[in-house]
Amino acid sequence: MTISTAVSAPIIAVVGATGAQGGSVIRALSESNKAYRIRGFTRNITKASAQALTAQGVEMVAVNLVVENRHNVYSAFVGADYAFLVTNFWEHADKQKEIAEGKLLIDAAKAAGVKGIIFSGLTAVEKLSKGKYTKVFHFDGKAEVAEYGRASGVPFVDVQAGFYNDNFLSEGLQLVTKNSDGTFILSSVIKPSAVIPLIDVEKDYGLYVCQVLEAPIFPDGSVVYARSEDLSMEEVARQLSEGLSKTVTYQQITYEEATQSLTKRGFPEITAIDIVEGFLFFSEFGYYGRYPAFSAEGLGRPPSRFSDFVKAADWSKVFL
Ligand SMILES: NC(=O)c1ccc[n+]([C@@H]2O[C@H](COP(=O)([O-])OP(=O)(O)OC[C@H]3O[C@@H](n4cnc5c(N)ncnc54)[C@H](OP(=O)(O)O)[C@@H]3O)[C@@H](O)[C@H]2O)c1
Ligand SMILES: *[C@@H]1O[C@H](CO)[C@@H](O)[C@H](O)[C@H]1NC(C)=O
Repeated sequence: MTISTAVSAPIIAVVGATGAQGGSVIRALSESNKAYRIRGFTRNITKASAQALTAQGVEMVAVNLVVENRHNVYSAFVGADYAFLVTNFWEHADKQKEIAEGKLLIDAAKAAGVKGIIFSGLTAVEKLSKGKYTKVFHFDGKAEVAEYGRASGVPFVDVQAGFYNDNFLSEGLQLVTKNSDGTFILSSVIKPSAVIPLIDVEKDYGLYVCQVLEAPIFPDGSVVYARSEDLSMEEVARQLSEGLSKTVTYQQITYEEATQSLTKRGFPEITAIDIVEGFLFFSEFGYYGRYPAFSAEGLGRPPSRFSDFVKAADWSKVFL
């Protein structure tokens, strides 16, 4: 299938169209055997990634999705049948701003009269850890937006994205480091055996969103745990070793070591703590605050394997 222009096809408004999650949603919708019209949002429709979407038949709309721009945000959703919403915490690293922007998106989609909202939320860490972890702002803000969405009166589904495979490639996080003897260490505060839901976000996130849109009844109020494969950190290290023919060993480090390594590389302390407390939460309570059974049933195709990601990704900056 391709993207439809038929007036009978529902219009899906996709926030973050040029990004990882929104891009994956557009890919899955365009590969579905159902017909969709797609409206994609970006701040800059002239940039290459936006132009590529226009060429595919996506109606690209230029809009800055911030509270100061409320009127245009509302206009952008007019006529949409469903909305996919994602907030980008890392744009500003400000929990209150993420909450305000998330609520704005929900208000605007509701005002447009959409039949359903899909929001990319995350776990309520402070609540689920009973106050043990209070600084995982990039999770708790999204959880608050999801709560607002569930109370909005519009059918609402929270499709939570797992831990991106791309995080292992991140030069900022630097989860993999080199030893002087030429072997490598994958390190974090996470217990070696703790299972983490990993996702190849570009390939697989959209499959879960598409499944929600194509369910016989819009699954109002449900939480969907979008991931490609559940693996422990120990197993991630083993698969990196095997797939790349390197020696990669997993090492659990302390809270102090992990936060210091981030601040030394320029992360503000508050952000380093946000990230490391998050990892401690995953290790202790599960990334989703629980360990939902893995099921690929009903997805457009089976999700990808981490071993395929290992083979396809460019690891040159990590394994220097
Ligand atoms: N890393 C992980 O493991 C992980 C796991 C789960 C969830 N997340 C969450 O994923 C979110 C980011 O999603 P992503 O990975 O899809 O992001 P991404 O690939 O970095 O793309 C960000 C998208 O947001 C759009 N955007 C940002 N600010 C905007 C604004 N003011 N107005 C309009 N559009 C705006 C960008 O559009 P333009 O630049 O084209 O305007 C772009 O399409 C973060 O909140 C993060 O916490 C991350
Ligand atoms: C939009 O993207 C084009 C093409 O990449 C770039 O030349 C231009 O500076 C961008 N505009 C803004 C406001 O960022």
